[in-house]
Amino acid sequence: MDNILVDGREQIAIADIGQQAERAKKILAKVRKTMLAPTVAKEPPVFTPVQLASLVGLEPRQVDYRSKKGTLPAGGMNSAGTRREFTLAEARVWARELRPTFMRPASAEAVAIAIANFKGGVSKTTTALTLAQGLSLRGHRVLVIDCDPQGSLTTLFGILPDSEVDNDQTILPLCLGDEESIEYAIRGTYWNGIDLVPATSSLFSAEFALPARQRSEGGSFKFWNVLHNGIEKARQEYDIIILDTPPSLSYVTINAIMACNGIITPLPPNALDFASSVQFWDLFYDLTSQLDARDIPKRFDFIDVLLAKVDSSDIATSVVKEWISAAYGSKVLPIEIPKTSTAASASAEFGSVYDMKPGSASSRTIKRALDAYDQLMDAVESQVVGAWMRQLAQLNEVAP
Ligand SMILES: Nc1ncnc2c1ncn2[C@@H]1O[C@H](COP(=O)(O)OP(=O)(O)OP(=O)(O)O)[C@@H](O)[C@H]1O
Ligand SMILES: [Mg+2]
Repeated sequence: MDNILVDGREQIAIADIGQQAERAKKILAKVRKTMLAPTVAKEPPVFTPVQLASLVGLEPRQVDYRSKKGTLPAGGMNSAGTRREFTLAEARVWARELRPTFMRPASAEAVAIAIANFKGGVSKTTTALTLAQGLSLRGHRVLVIDCDPQGSLTTLFGILPDSEVDNDQTILPLCLGDEESIEYAIRGTYWNGIDLVPATSSLFSAEFALPARQRSEGGSFKFWNVLHNGIEKARQEYDIIILDTPPSLSYVTINAIMACNGIITPLPPNALDFASSVQFWDLFYDLTSQLDARDIPKRFDFIDVLLAKVDSSDIATSVVKEWISAAYGSKVLPIEIPKTSTAASASAEFGSVYDMKPGSASSRTIKRALDAYDQLMDAVESQVVGAWMRQLAQLNEVAP
C-alpha cells in the first residue's frame, strides 16, 4: 500500500523505528562518553582523613594515630602531593575493622532487599544504587541484581545494557532454566564492595519463559522461586543483596519479592503516586497470598515505605504525607529523601549523591541529600542486623 502523505507527513513503518533505535543507541553511547570523560569508566570516590573519620565514627586525630600504628591502611599522598587520601577499598577496610557489631556474623547469610513499587519513576533505581553504595561504605559486601529489562541500574554503574551486556550475563539463563545459581552472571564494578548482575532489554523474555516453564514443567516447578534458589549460594559470599525491580508486578518482580527478606517501597508523597501504591499493595497481597498457600509461608523481616523525592515547597505534600502515614502506619520510615536538583541534574543522573565530587553542585544541596541518605543507611543497616540476629536465633532453635 502507498504511504499517503497527510499535511506533508508520512506514516511511520516499523523499519523506521528500527533506524531510529539504532540512531538513539549511538547518541547514548556518545553521551555516556562525555558524561564519564576522560576515562569513560566511572571512578570511585577517595576520602580525606577527615571524611574517613566521619565515616567510621572517629575523631580525625584518631585516624592519624591509628594510621601510624600500622594495623590499618595508612592511605597515600594524592597525585598533586598536597594531602593524604584513602581509596574506597582502604576506607572499607577501616569500616569493617571499626564497626564490628554491624558486620554479618559468620553463621548468618546475606539479607536480600527488594526495591519495589509498580509505579514508574518513583526512584526505585536511585534508591537501589544509593543503598548499595552507602551500605558498602559501611563495610558490607553488596551484590546488586538488576531485574529490570530497562537496565537503568546497570547504566548507573557505567555499563550500557544493550551494547555491553549479553543475555547470558543477566538473570535470564536462571529464568530459562539453563542455570541454577547466579554466579555465572556476577561481575565486579568500579565501586569496591559492590558486585553486579546486570540487565539488558532481552531480559523481558523472562516474562514469557517463566509462565511457559510453569505449564511445561508442572507441579515441581515453582516460577516464583527461581531467583530465591538462584541466590542461595551467593548468600554465603555477600552481606547484603539488593534487587532493583521494574515498574510492574511482573513474573520477575514476584521472584524478587519472594527471594527477599525485606522490601523497600519508595513513594513520593503526591496524590497519584499514593493512589497507585494502594493498588500495588492490593495486587501484591492477591498474588503473594496465592503463592503463600502453595508453599512454605513467606515472612519478611521488614517492609518499609520510604518517602522519596519529597518536594517540601509543594503545599499538597504535607496532606499526602498524612494519608501515607494513616495508610501505612509504622511501615513508613521516619526519613524523607528530598527532591533535589542534585539528583535531577544531567551528569548526576549517571550516579548518586555518593558519586558527587565536592564543588560539582551546591554543597548545601548535596549535604541535605547526603544527610537524608545517611539516615536511610542507619535505618536499613539496623534492620539488616536485626534480620541476622533473627537468623542466629533460628539456628539456635534448630540446633540440638
Ligand atoms: N531525590 C530525588 N530528587 C530529584 N530527582 C530524583 C530523586 N530521586 C530520583 N530522581 C530522578 O527521578 C527519575 C526517576 O528515578 P529512578 O530511575 O530512580 O526511578 P525508578 O522508580 O527506578 O524508575 P522506573 O520505574 O522507570 O524504574 C530519575 O530521573 C532520577 O534522577
Ligand atoms: Mg528503575
